[in-house]
Amino acid sequence: MRSLVVLALLAQSVHAQTPEPVQTEPARTVRAAREVQGIAAAESFSATFSEFAVAADHPAASAAGAEILAAGGNAADAAAATMLALGVASPASSGLGGGGFLLYYRASDRTFTFLDFREAAPAAATPEMFVDRPAPMPGRANAASQVGGLASGVPGEPAGIEAMVRRFGSGLPLTRIVAPAVRLAEDGVPVSSGVARMSGAFGDQMRRDRTMRGWFEGEGPLREGQILRQPELARTLRELGARGAQAIYTGRIAREIVRANRAAGGIFTMEDLASYRVIEREPLRAERFGHLWVTAPPPSAGGFTLLQSLAVLEALPTRWRPVTRGQSPSADFLHALVESWKGPYLDRERYFGDPDHVRLPLDAMLAPDRILARASAFHPGLANPPEDYDFPLQAPANSGPEENGTSHLCVVDAEGNVAAVTTTVNLPFGARYSAAGIVMNDEMDDFAREVGVSNAFGLLGGAPNLPGPGKRPISTMTPTIVLDAEGRPVLAVGAAGGSRIVTATQQVAMNVLLFGMSGGDAMAAPRVHHQARPNVLRVETEAPLPEAVRAGLTRRGHAIEETDHLATAQVIAIVRGEGGVRLQAASDPRKGGRPAGI
Ligand code: GLY
Repeated sequence: MRSLVVLALLAQSVHAQTPEPVQTEPARTVRAAREVQGIAAAESFSATFSEFAVAADHPAASAAGAEILAAGGNAADAAAATMLALGVASPASSGLGGGGFLLYYRASDRTFTFLDFREAAPAAATPEMFVDRPAPMPGRANAASQVGGLASGVPGEPAGIEAMVRRFGSGLPLTRIVAPAVRLAEDGVPVSSGVARMSGAFGDQMRRDRTMRGWFEGEGPLREGQILRQPELARTLRELGARGAQAIYTGRIAREIVRANRAAGGIFTMEDLASYRVIEREPLRAERFGHLWVTAPPPSAGGFTLLQSLAVLEALPTRWRPVTRGQSPSADFLHALVESWKGPYLDRERYFGDPDHVRLPLDAMLAPDRILARASAFHPGLANPPEDYDFPLQAPANSGPEENGTSHLCVVDAEGNVAAVTTTVNLPFGARYSAAGIVMNDEMDDFAREVGVSNAFGLLGGAPNLPGPGKRPISTMTPTIVLDAEGRPVLAVGAAGGSRIVTATQQVAMNVLLFGMSGGDAMAAPRVHHQARPNVLRVETEAPLPEAVRAGLTRRGHAIEETDHLATAQVIAIVRGEGGVRLQAASDPRKGGRPAGI
């Protein structure tokens, strides 16, 4: 089935810099690159493609990535174009003022690379900077770490985009890669239901910013279907295309960012921007349930949580976490899954901080005896209090931290390269001020404001995660790629949703790999979330659990709390069969995204 609508495929001209395709996938044919005038997203939240696929949480962003693939770009080029377009179409969630992580699989040499372009605290940041600091303005999420200048870390997105294109791109120029985003910013893009909803929640604060106020028709907030034009952002994007990331980190735009940050109460300097660096890190990997899982290392706690949970589940007797392919997860399985999350969330609180600034004993945390201890604490008929899974390490690492503004995208290209990117400005519309058309992040809220004080997602802050000069705050972002026993990629997945990112990522992945669901079914299935504290099991009203499953969880003593939806994921499942490779791409219907591809 192909529900893709190709509006216009023009001349079959091969792009001059298109590399020779590497035929790692014998069943797939690499078509000649085409210059594409318009390539639309699928009509549904899930679709199957045979050559390449992009799954982002906004249809225009998926289409931007597909356009670049059709024009001869590869997965890295397409991921960059998708990120840039997302920043225009969904400025609530990500953009040049934020940061993120890329996990990239290069098919030609079967290597993985992880790029950390997370926001960094400015040089003047201190561990006490948020202690007793009054709220800068009224409204929702209005702590000094959540809104205004102090809330922003130095953005990493421009450097991350440049690094992924330079390092892995096909040679397509940056001017071509930014083109779809420039077009969206100049011609306008219809406001999605998700963006409208987030604008509704934060409209009063957005109205204080000249640029965001200019987006409103009348008093605002943004309404669904309204055409959002951003000429100032278009100009910034053009400069990025022409001069690379230095156009943002130095010169006119950098001065504007520093000015806007300081006017909003911040402490940025030109040196903070000029000294920003992308960091390459070794991704975490583990073989579990017959697959190799490759995922985000610290400063994300997401990859650790995923691998710890999988390890505990695998250590349990199979009758306590039964898996029947073709069936949805049962109450027995979900109970085991929920219990497996409690320990790693407690570890996060106590031990996690920027690995370049604190000692983070990952090996000790993932040690087999600790996993066995957690598995032994499990009771198949009873929800344990989180403390039952708390096994402090012998040598402490340190003595001494519904809506979300994050976005995940997956790309698989015709050469078999895979990109999984999670990108964020943290809360909706970041710190709710802008510079040069760019919405600035409030990633400083992912630090511990104070030890023992929780952030916007209810995550308690630990001492290793207090702010400090150049430090990167702990994240939950979990871009993940899974390989089969033959070492071939079978899944790219990740999510947005603050503390709920990893639990959503894991459930979508397991729905495909363990329960045999298609990418679309895996995405639409109900999800649950538990983060140890508060000790409640969250379920979705938009995707309710079957009554018997919910009753099975209640019977075990889980305190169930309802929420509209928990997180929003994106997935591409790579399915190999007699007819060749099929790419089952799905964008979460909870946020209104749609995939694109051919
Ligand atoms: N700001 C969301 C995260 O990094 O987890």
